Amino acid sequence: MIRFASTDCRRETGNIKWDLQGPLPFGIADMDIESPPCVVDALQARLNHRFYGYAFMTDELRAAITAYLIKKHGVTNAAPEWLHELPGCVPAFTLVARTVCPEPQHEVMVCSPSYPPMLHCHEDARCSLLSVPFTYTGERWEFDWEAMEAAVSPNTKLFLLCNPHNPLGRAWSREEMERVADFCERHDLILCSDEIHCDLVLDEDKQHVCALTLPERLQ
Ligand SMILES: Cc1ncc(COP(=O)(O)O)c(C=O)c1O
Repeated sequence: MIRFASTDCRRETGNIKWDLQGPLPFGIADMDIESPPCVVDALQARLNHRFYGYAFMTDELRAAITAYLIKKHGVTNAAPEWLHELPGCVPAFTLVARTVCPEPQHEVMVCSPSYPPMLHCHEDARCSLLSVPFTYTGERWEFDWEAMEAAVSPNTKLFLLCNPHNPLGRAWSREEMERVADFCERHDLILCSDEIHCDLVLDEDKQHVCALTLPERLQ
């Protein structure tokens, strides 16, 4: 059963959403839903150990993540040794941009609107941003393939994708994902796919298409 928190119980807990953002704090992805008992129990068991030193990614954790990727998203090729722990997605964007765009003129391509940190990671990475607007067909938001082809240049090195998309709410279809990957391959771009919301595709007729399930030639 899903249990919603009352706003009173969330205030004065050092929480950005309820303590800093005013009466209608809809600008941050912090849900007022209690964590499920299995999560609370696992955390409680860890707390009960009473020693909280530095941790590393155990083989058990690697195996659990790869099993989840197979079961939930049909990813059969993820090797446990590919997994690396990072403090969050936002620092990961900067790390990838720094690695793939070492020169100031190198561009991170992001279709906009997009989760704002994606449009700003080039600042910390000391490279450039190439922002290309999505297009609205009257029914849904889509990639503007023509605008993307016109904008991309040899300085563009990285394509930052958000799937499912925040804020557009689109779960990109397999056809769209293959077209993005094909675009990246033709222009020699590294595709970085942020799939943090992949388990929130609730429409029965839609399915998350993980970048790791793209045809091998596009990976
Ligand atoms: C698309 C997207 N990526 C990443 C994040 C945040 O990731 P993290 O907290 O791991 O930096 C959010 C949070 O709203 C998000 O919407």
